[in-house]
Amino acid sequence: MDHGRLGEAAVGTLDANWTGTATLPSRTQYPHQWSWDSAFIAIGLARVDQDRAQRELLGLLRAQWASGRLPHIVYGDAGGEAYFPGPEFWDSRGAPDAPAVRTSGIVQPPVHARAALTICARAADGAAARRFLAEAYPGLAAQHRYLIERRDLDGGGLASIVHPWESGTDNSPAWDAFLAEVSVPSSAFVRRDMDHVAADERPGDADYAAYIALAERYRDIGYDDVKLLDKHPFTIEDPLFNAILLDGELCLAEIARRIGRDPEPHRRAARAVHEGLMARLWDEERGTFVARDVRSGVRAAATTVSGFAPLLDPWLPAGVRDRLLGLLLSPAFMGGCPHPVPTYDLGAPAFERRRYWRGPTWVNTNWLLWVGVLRAGRDDIARTICASTLELLGRSGFREYFDPVDGSGRGAHDFSWSAALALDMLAAPDGAAVPLPAA
Ligand code: SER
Repeated sequence: MDHGRLGEAAVGTLDANWTGTATLPSRTQYPHQWSWDSAFIAIGLARVDQDRAQRELLGLLRAQWASGRLPHIVYGDAGGEAYFPGPEFWDSRGAPDAPAVRTSGIVQPPVHARAALTICARAADGAAARRFLAEAYPGLAAQHRYLIERRDLDGGGLASIVHPWESGTDNSPAWDAFLAEVSVPSSAFVRRDMDHVAADERPGDADYAAYIALAERYRDIGYDDVKLLDKHPFTIEDPLFNAILLDGELCLAEIARRIGRDPEPHRRAARAVHEGLMARLWDEERGTFVARDVRSGVRAAATTVSGFAPLLDPWLPAGVRDRLLGLLLSPAFMGGCPHPVPTYDLGAPAFERRRYWRGPTWVNTNWLLWVGVLRAGRDDIARTICASTLELLGRSGFREYFDPVDGSGRGAHDFSWSAALALDMLAAPDGAAVPLPAA
């Protein structure tokens, strides 16, 4: 498909998923507003509809809890059968700091400050864009403060995720060994996620049972993060989540500068995450960043796409950066398949071409790597990632994820962030307009 038609189709997909206040990731599979989806969607919308991009993000921020927690799902009008778990499961209204609107109780990677800065970079009206930044800044700053103050569970400089859904990469092989420790009994439930997507493209039943059990445990301690270390069996430092947090702090510093606020606390916070990443998650032997159990110090054995996310870190030592880029280009990832970047090492025994986060190529991780290699000064790799992503979307449509070997689309159809990030890449394939805020 030529790029003009691809762009038109992307706009059509986003229009069809727009509810009037937010964009659904997919009308069938995910019929509510999702947090990091909305951030990616806003980045693409900023290319075609500045007003809607701003409303997408500001609408999400209105569902923020008083503690700064930005929930991963904001429930809309879709009926109770449409998605499980629904709002009754999370019981957010039972929490003292929750908003009136019904939400989940967990978070997702904080891509939102980058989305806000990107919206501003695309705006024709500079004064209006600054007003938008001033409106978004308090919520974004509170979101980051929550993650840095309440989720840095032992003061090591990194935020912990407390549920695989918080990573955004739900059934990544990185969680396998940690989930094996979770005792699974949960209340009875019916999976809805396989009504529209084939079972072999979704997480397995054992994973799903652990997701529900973990969510119940967190809910039943009242979403009280002070109790996590003692009472919660899944507290993990994820390189993707923390690299996005670091990048987000640098974006917040730039936003603060533009609206006359003090950028320095955000730069210091970014630097602390950098120190944590290097001290805790860099694996010198394997030459990549890996997830780590904050309680035991045990590191995940799986080498996944999340390990490359620290390319977003401008302070990465040259030797570390070069080893990461070497692994990225190797036959285990970009060098080993026609439709990169696979989310898991192609040669690993547990690699699965079709199953969600256990191998398929995703547009949002490609987009993040695109920004990461631009940050690392490798415009050549950025051009390759951009071209192969747009080729894949032209070939198979705006699917949720793709088989990296044959390029076939998998998961939901008409998936919003695939369309939105296509618009961003189509507008500037060389990445010239991607904000890379000063360190
Ligand atoms: N990604 C999850 C799902 O598949 C929820 O965040 O339902």
